[in-house]
Amino acid sequence: MLMTRRIVFVFLAFVLVLGGCQLDTGVKIIKMGHAQVVSHPVHQAMVFLGKRLEEKSGGKIKVKVYPNQQLGTERELLELLQIGSVGMTKVSAASLEAFSPEISVLGLPYLFRDDAHITQVLEGEIGKELLLSTEKYWLRGLCFYDAGKRSFYSKTRPIATPADLAGLKVRVQESKMAINMVRGMGGSPTPVSYGELYTALQQGIVDAAENNPPSFYNSRHYEVCKYYSIDEHTAIPDVVLVSTKVWSELSPEEQVWLQEAADESAAYQTKLWKEAVEEALLEVQKAGVEISYPSKEPFLEKVAAVYAQVFQEQKQLEALVQRIQQTNK
Ligand code: GCU
Repeated sequence: MLMTRRIVFVFLAFVLVLGGCQLDTGVKIIKMGHAQVVSHPVHQAMVFLGKRLEEKSGGKIKVKVYPNQQLGTERELLELLQIGSVGMTKVSAASLEAFSPEISVLGLPYLFRDDAHITQVLEGEIGKELLLSTEKYWLRGLCFYDAGKRSFYSKTRPIATPADLAGLKVRVQESKMAINMVRGMGGSPTPVSYGELYTALQQGIVDAAENNPPSFYNSRHYEVCKYYSIDEHTAIPDVVLVSTKVWSELSPEEQVWLQEAADESAAYQTKLWKEAVEEALLEVQKAGVEISYPSKEPFLEKVAAVYAQVFQEQKQLEALVQRIQQTNK
């Protein structure tokens, strides 16, 4: 009995909460939770991040990745990071809106001119500012992952123009910006967490949703929604974050390893992403989804009103949008 207690005591003495733990072998294990399935390229990138960190640290730091909302929805995961009970996560930038009004800017429709513009903004000064804009809330952004472009998919009809959204309950992420965007385009926005969306679509709680091709495919929403209209209204990236409670317990050298591992995983994810988009479009088509490429003009005509609404609610975003628009290298 005494022996068992001693063992427990010795064990506890070595355990250090690190959104995971430090074992008595001196190995730190960082828990990383996210909402996607394991076949999704972002999951593979997170596993890669863990592998690189383990290599760089000579096996002293490991990342254990928990997919599928096992540890909570994106919103819950962020809260768990804030208190340090989960160490790292990957969420959509839309989920960070409550912690950083600046980041919500990325949810504005047709914000970027093209792919090169997205890279210039996210890899430049603005991207760095956005990654650190949640630090005062104990969330440190490490890098962005490519989450492509989001387009509408529906159970009932193709969305050829915004008028086709009329009367449709469109699932949106838990974000005010997404609500404004869908309302401005003419649909009825309904926030639902990603993990609950399949059932919500199946049961008719919502009639439509919007996402990038790999997420539409990997979430199997295509089994329920047979119309995918590639209007590419937003390009909201994903963000990899570490709890500042975990970050501050790492030595400066360990912090460098973690940052490098995150950057390398972002480069790896970009490569996986392109293939994943092609594969997703091919597979959903094989499964009977009608893919259409509507003209963007009628969607673009709605943009000015959406921006006006957003600036009325958040005046400070106007200057940031201007900076984004002026970014060209
Ligand atoms: C994207 C994003 C996820 C997010 C999802 C959503 O797929 O990568 O992080 O959960 O959109 O629509 O909620």
